[in-house]
Amino acid sequence: MFLLIENKMIVPNMYQAVISAPEIAAAAQAGQFVIIRPTEESERIPLSLSDWDAARGTVSVVYMIVGKTTGQLAALVAGANVATVAGPLGNPMEMGHFGHVACIGGCYGIASIYPVARQLKALGNRVSIIVEARSSYLLFWQQKLKSVCDELVVITRDGSKGLTGHINSLPAIFTKLPLPVDRAIINGCNYLMMRGSEETRPLGIRTIVSLNTLMIDGTGMCGVCRCTVGGATKFACVDGPHFDGHEVNWDEVTRRRQAYLREELQPLRSSAGEFANLEQG
Ligand code: FES
Repeated sequence: MFLLIENKMIVPNMYQAVISAPEIAAAAQAGQFVIIRPTEESERIPLSLSDWDAARGTVSVVYMIVGKTTGQLAALVAGANVATVAGPLGNPMEMGHFGHVACIGGCYGIASIYPVARQLKALGNRVSIIVEARSSYLLFWQQKLKSVCDELVVITRDGSKGLTGHINSLPAIFTKLPLPVDRAIINGCNYLMMRGSEETRPLGIRTIVSLNTLMIDGTGMCGVCRCTVGGATKFACVDGPHFDGHEVNWDEVTRRRQAYLREELQPLRSSAGEFANLEQG
């Protein structure tokens, strides 16, 4: 059992959980993830580590409610126990002195790009962080992000903050940055990473994505996270989750990610139905 220190909504439908997990906090590296089971009866969900504090023995994850299990996690209050937190899992993000790195995040990727940018900056890279959201009310961690980069660029689709645009504005944004981009790292939903990779491909910029696949064990045993990268079969949990975005078979990733969509939505539909019945009754 792992003590939940904090679990709060930071923007609509997006939560930040801080969990006591000293061994994971002591070993965590940028780009790794944990597998969480909110209760003994819950399914297992992979969540990227957004931050950690080895001295306090805590790890932070930012997650969106997309189905039953994330809903169960959001329902836990500070002081409750989380049944399972396994990790740190996956390979750390490749680190080095790459020059000018654009760290791009959308949705929960706004949080998971933070430790990556922090370490790249500490290693002496020039770091530009680009965050993308539908509207300004979906942005979070802006001060925290600013503290680990040379410039923070905000894009909103409705123009309520920063530049008006979408992930397909990346080439135009890159031309506005003080230096050419040597490497792009994109975190967020698979669509954002796929589109971002398509934008950087003609520019010849090496682009690393952190795949969101279904996972069960997270240790290479079940095969659920299978994907194809550069024509070869990979397991996102042990071979990744970071891959060259220009080499990923995105059609397959999208298809496999949606394999259980109907089952994932069923509990939400049932609750909505119960709610409607209550209202009518
Ligand atoms: Fe089971 Fe990757 S999650 S092999």
